[in-house]
Amino acid sequence: MHLKTEPLKQLIYTSIANTFPEKIASPEFVAKIQAKNHSFGITGSLAWHDKMFMQIIEGPASAVNRLFAEILQDRRHQSIVLISERIVHSREFPNWDMAVVSLGTESFSASFAPHKYRARGSRILDAFRRGVWQ
Ligand SMILES: Cc1cc2nc3c(=O)[nH]c(=O)nc-3n(C[C@H](O)[C@H](O)[C@H](O)COP(=O)(O)O)c2cc1C
Repeated sequence: MHLKTEPLKQLIYTSIANTFPEKIASPEFVAKIQAKNHSFGITGSLAWHDKMFMQIIEGPASAVNRLFAEILQDRRHQSIVLISERIVHSREFPNWDMAVVSLGTESFSASFAPHKYRARGSRILDAFRRGVWQ
């Protein structure tokens, strides 16, 4: 008998920083959330521009729900808008414990150019980059 595997979930939201976004994108904070994500099987990307964030979180549904509950309580940002929440068959960022990228930089194009296959998360991320959500 097979053990039932938990569904994989992808959640996307935007928010506005209450602090300098550079603090959230700092190497110390990024290393901390990446280590935590790794232990819970979470992958994804956190893109930011000025004070706006867009985060894509994917992983076992219960781990994504637990993390988003924490993120909703986090006072470092506000005005959280849930953009998309769905069960997926595969991850869009399987190799990233959390890719943190500043939009409009070389590193953004370098990191996400391979995702030009237009998976849903990448399309939303691209729309965010073009300023649709501002
Ligand atoms: C924009 C933003 C993105 C975040 N992303 C993550 C994340 O991917 N993984 C994570 O564990 N915590 C993330 N956090 C932090 C959580 O909201 C929460 O503070 C943290 O998980 C608490 O961890 P601790 O109780 O171990 O200190 C993020 C916070 C902000 C403001």
